[in-house]
Amino acid sequence: MGGSFDPVHKGHLNMALAVMPLGYDRIILVPAYQSPFKPPRQGETAEIRLLMLLSSISGDRRFTVDACEILREGISYTIDTLRDLHERYQFDDKPALIFGDDLAASFPRWKDADLIMREADIIIASRLSSAQVHYPYPCTFLGNVIMELSSGSVRDMIQDGRDWKSLVPDGARRIIEERGLYGAPRVKSEEAARYSESGGWASGVSATIQGIEYAARGMMNPHRFIHSRNVALHSADLAGRFGLDEDSAYIAGITHDICKEFDRGSMMEYALKDGGALSDLERGKPSLLHGRAAAMLIQERFGINDEAVIEAVRFHTTGASNIGPLAKIVYIADKIETARTTVDPRLRRLVFGGDGKSLSLDTLFSIVLNETVTWLLERGLNVSDETLKLRSGIRYEKTD
Ligand SMILES: [Fe+2]
Ligand SMILES: [Fe+2]
Repeated sequence: MGGSFDPVHKGHLNMALAVMPLGYDRIILVPAYQSPFKPPRQGETAEIRLLMLLSSISGDRRFTVDACEILREGISYTIDTLRDLHERYQFDDKPALIFGDDLAASFPRWKDADLIMREADIIIASRLSSAQVHYPYPCTFLGNVIMELSSGSVRDMIQDGRDWKSLVPDGARRIIEERGLYGAPRVKSEEAARYSESGGWASGVSATIQGIEYAARGMMNPHRFIHSRNVALHSADLAGRFGLDEDSAYIAGITHDICKEFDRGSMMEYALKDGGALSDLERGKPSLLHGRAAAMLIQERFGINDEAVIEAVRFHTTGASNIGPLAKIVYIADKIETARTTVDPRLRRLVFGGDGKSLSLDTLFSIVLNETVTWLLERGLNVSDETLKLRSGIRYEKTD
């Protein structure tokens, strides 16, 4: 489901959620960089619209956000976005494109409309009227409840000082208030205040998934956050497949890169809190310490004491011998997540299920590890001793 999301409102999310009973797994929200349907207007920048969207789906695994159109810039045509999504997501089944009946009449005139229908089923949601109009192409009518709501009307209400707050998801509302967007009076949000004043979360109190996601979002740029969130989603999916706790997997995924934007000094300081030594490779390239640093930070700030989560975060970059199943899952998810543009599609088909449903976690892990090491070595990049040991161990087991 594409859109400008300027700002995202509850009508968007409700319309998207109405497709779930049709048997879909997840909704991919694709914010436009620039709408092909509307003339450019003075709106919020792509990055802020993206941030409002991301904060509105916090902890909700039914949603994901894909920033491909923002990264591509200019006008994106639906057919190009669909092809890109097919390449990166390796869908098991035909995906659907969802749009409102306000756009349905013009659909046959979209660029390559016939090809769009080959790539996706068309779902039309009611925005204007509950009466079904018949369009001259195959489509499914959603029969959703109509909400008299548009981003334009939300912007007008904010501007006019009318009560708009219940129309926008909490995350977006907080950003609009904190930044005074669309002419809203600036408010210091409760959650932001609580987080910054405590210097983290109160010690001894375990933070909730949404609280951790909120903190993680504040510690990285939106694109790195999308990477982290994808790793969280894939990790939870794999945990479900292999009988592990999905929430723990999500938490490990969302926090695994939480220290990646730290400066050298803070990275080193956090990492060395684990009492371990500094390897030559780490000394030469301190960014490799971001896993160790994050493993310490999540204990200190969020009160996480689940050993499996800590291990998964700590070893996500290099892997290690005898790591447990959750660490293997996060390692895999990190290497193949959908925002990465240079992943072998065969690898994704294995992990996302299509071709790999019968594979064990150990087999999946060794395939992904092998591919990753081969990729690094082919490009003359350094691989840690730990990872090489791990790979040779796997080879030995396979040939023995
Ligand atoms: Fe990482
Ligand atoms: Fe990562």
